[in-house]
Order: sequence, then C-alpha cells, then structure tokens
Amino acid sequence: MAEPNRRSAAVPNDLEAFWVPFTPNRAFKRAPRLIARAKDMHYYTPEGRAVLDGTAGLWCTNAGHNRAPIVDAIKRQAEELDYAPAFQFAHPKSFELASRIAALAPGDLDRVFFCNSGSEAVDTALKIALAYHNVRGQASRTRLIGRERGYHGVGFGGISVGGIVANRKHFGTLLAGVDHLPATYNREHQAFTKGEPDWGAHLADDLERLVALHDASTIAAVIVEPMAGSTGVLPPPKGYLERLRAICDRHGILLIFDEVITGFGRLGHAFAAERYGVTPDMITFAKGITSGAVPMGGVIAREGIYDAFMRGPEHVAELFHGYTYSAHPLACAAGLATLDLYRDEKLFERAKTLEPLWADAAMSLKSVPGVLDIRTVGLTAGIDLASRPDAFGKRAYEAMERGFHDEGVMIRITGETLALTPPLIVSEAQIGEIFDKVARVIKAVM
Ligand SMILES: Cc1ncc(COP(=O)(O)O)c(C=O)c1O
Repeated sequence: MAEPNRRSAAVPNDLEAFWVPFTPNRAFKRAPRLIARAKDMHYYTPEGRAVLDGTAGLWCTNAGHNRAPIVDAIKRQAEELDYAPAFQFAHPKSFELASRIAALAPGDLDRVFFCNSGSEAVDTALKIALAYHNVRGQASRTRLIGRERGYHGVGFGGISVGGIVANRKHFGTLLAGVDHLPATYNREHQAFTKGEPDWGAHLADDLERLVALHDASTIAAVIVEPMAGSTGVLPPPKGYLERLRAICDRHGILLIFDEVITGFGRLGHAFAAERYGVTPDMITFAKGITSGAVPMGGVIAREGIYDAFMRGPEHVAELFHGYTYSAHPLACAAGLATLDLYRDEKLFERAKTLEPLWADAAMSLKSVPGVLDIRTVGLTAGIDLASRPDAFGKRAYEAMERGFHDEGVMIRITGETLALTPPLIVSEAQIGEIFDKVARVIKAVM
C-alpha cells in the first residue's frame, strides 16, 4: 500500500554520523530501516511503502500515529508558548494535565511530578523514595529492590534496579545497596498462557527473604513493572502483585509500579494498577501520555508522600530535583489532547474488548515450527523462538528485518522474543494481518 498524494522524503546518503541507540549500527547501516512518515496504523518508508505498526513505535503511540487533534494541539501550543521555566514558574497546562492524570490514577495517587522520559521517571521515583524516608527520619532506609528481567530505562538508577545483564555489565558498579527479586517467568509452568499465569504468586515471598537478610529498616522501596515488557511480555502471576503489596505494607517499604509501558490503556485500563486492583505508592509513566508525539514522563505519588515533604521554610524548595523540560508546554498540550482522544474514542476499553480476539490470534501461531512459547495480556504478545545453536537472538533479528523489508510489518525484538504491541486503534482485520505476516516471517527464518 503506497501512501496517497505524498512525494518521497529525502533519503540520507551518509548514515555514519548518527550513532543509533540500542541498535547494531554496522548491520543497520548496511540495510537501514528508514521511516519517513506515519499515519494512524501505518508507517511509510521514504519510498512510500506502508509498514503496519505492530509495536506502537516503542510501546508509545497508543492513539495511533499523527492523529489530527494531537498534531493541532502541538502546533497551537508552539505558537502560543514555546517554553516557560520549569523551576519557580509554571504554565497553566501543567496543572491541568497533572489533575487529569491524577484523576485517572487509582486511590490517592494524586501528585504528579513531570520529567521527559521513562528513564527519568524511574530515577525520579527512586530519588523520591529515598528522600521520603529521609524527611520522615528514617534515613537508614536506602536499599532499593528491583527484579531480574526488569527494565527500568537506562539511567544509573534504572539499570541498577533493572535486571537485564547486557544493560548492566559494561557500566561499572552501578548504585550500591540494590537487590533483586527473582523473575516471574517459568516456561515449564506457564507456557502458552493467555493473560496472567496461575503459577508463580509465591515468588513474591522472596521479598520476605530479602527483608530477613537486610532488615526492613534498611529498605526504601521495591520497584517492578506490573507486566514486564522489555524482556518479552511477562504478565504477573495471579496474586503476585497483591502479595508484594502486602509484604511492603508489613515492613513500611514503598512499592513503585513502573507503568511506562502499561500506563494509558495497554492492558485495557488507564493503569495496570487498576487491572490488578493493587495500589502502589508511586507510578512511573511516559510514552502513552502523549501517544509518543512529544517526549514526556512522570511520577504519580500518593498524597501522603507529597505531604511528607511539605515542611521547612516556605521559601525553600521541598525537593531538590527537576528537569529544564519538566512539564514542557508542547508535551503538556500533546498530553491533554491525547487524554481527550483516549476518552472520546474509549481506547482503553477498546483494548480490553479486543483482548480475547488478540490473544486467540496470537495463540494461532502456537503450532508454527520453532515457536517455544506465546504470552499475551491486554494488547501485547510475546513470542519466543528457538535459537540457532550458534547465535542467540539472530533468528529474532532476522524476523524483524524480514518483517520490515518483506512483509511490511513492524516487529519489536528482545533476545529471541518477538513482541507485538500495536496502537490501541488497531482493527480486528489488522490484528489478523499482523499475525499472518508474523507467521510468514517466522516460517521464513526457521
Ligand atoms: C518499564 C519501562 N521503564 C522505563 C523505560 C524507559 O523509558 P525511556 O526509554 O523513555 O527512558 C521503559 C522503556 O521501554 C520501560 O519499558
């Protein structure tokens, strides 16, 4: 499908200067996957070839691409106010957006701190956790606990609590005083589960072991993704998050849900916290807040956390933290327009309604040779492939390449897993199209 009425965008003739992130640069520059434009469910290459977006970009364009209300809001904002200082001053839309986010968040998660990415959101939440205990006279609570296979961005805080070896091993000693819970995935007990697996709630009890080892008085916070996305769609076992919440409560430990990808509809609710009926003390968000159109991230904290900081002389900042572009006007305008779209088009509900059909379509690949496991939850699917004996990850990499060049579908990969997470506007026919294309791609690389 060629995009109508558009000329090809320029194709660069020198790819050397740009160091492409999280990408094998030499292979990429030999056969680049260039995207020049996008609309709704499709990307378009510079030549005008359509590529069906099976990944919502990087799990972020939940409302689809280049939606007119978001584009218009950004344009209007750029004309009205390009920038206002983020410290000591503020612009009206930042308050409006914070209120809207607070209204979507569960319980008394009512205070919103803005930053520009998921990584910044994670570092912000970890810092708030440490400072919170400090201002309450519990400065010995400094230990942070993450989870194996967790992804919390690429800041030093995020990679320290994260559990992805490749993201950690080259970067020195990381933060001191960090520990990890075990990953929740076990193929033997969970293979080909739709939604939350029955097996694994007991893995939360490992937190009791860490409390026994370190003493609760040294532990500040536990951070987990309610559904671990970046290491291949790992839905939480039934009852796991409740158990984690109960143990944290028992020991005065803050619980942080990293909802950078689960926030804003991915699992059929505004936040995964709502799907699972578990209220954390802080939620980190990014990506879907602006449907990827302008960088933005943030932390939603329970009112009591914010209140704990509201002490000391009134002319002195209560939290020494923030970014030049916190609550940037363009991001706030995009965020407000995006939340309107989610509401008006009932996109969170749409994800929920489509979930059974999506899960069936994903599971239809179960018998494709080389498929070792398929997991689904909300509008996400992870498909594990058998590795070539000599090269872990090469098969998935080839699948992504073929998907883009030959089949016109965007697939995300992590290790030997294909991850599919389309915009929430995906049609039933497009769900079929995504999995048909992915099935052909898998067959081609086996
Ligand atoms: C759970 C989670 N946390 C944090 C991040 C980091 O977000 P960013 O790339 O915007 O820094 C991601 C990115 O995928 C994520 O999935």
